[in-house]
Amino acid sequence: MPTIQWDESMTTGVESLDAQHRQLINWLNDLLGAMSLGRGRPEVKPLLDRLGAYAALHFGTEEDCMTKYNCPVAAKNVEQHKQFVETFGSFSEEYERTGPTAHLTVRLESELMRWLTTHIRRTDTQLAECVKPRA
Ligand SMILES: [Fe+2]
Repeated sequence: MPTIQWDESMTTGVESLDAQHRQLINWLNDLLGAMSLGRGRPEVKPLLDRLGAYAALHFGTEEDCMTKYNCPVAAKNVEQHKQFVETFGSFSEEYERTGPTAHLTVRLESELMRWLTTHIRRTDTQLAECVKPRA
């Protein structure tokens, strides 16, 4: 089960957001780890719920921050967050029906992990330029 780790290529220039990203990545690793080990619903469901709730909270904080700094990708960021929430929601619904199947685990890994790392590196990192103090 491959896990991902936060690294400098993901920095947003805002320490509190970076800390939230590290938390999201860690919890996504935990969720996928539990699912790939074949853990049952009582163990996996709280991890899934925790990740979804934290992602929603984090997106709100980050969107406010991008607005505050007039970040040029602010609208795109909101759009991409919506996509994540939709994808995550459909995975959660599927989970309710099927439980932690191998098929679902593989897709969560490829879609959520890929989404999160790509989104942080391509979109969230653009905040770094906006928060730099202007000379
Ligand atoms: Fe974002």
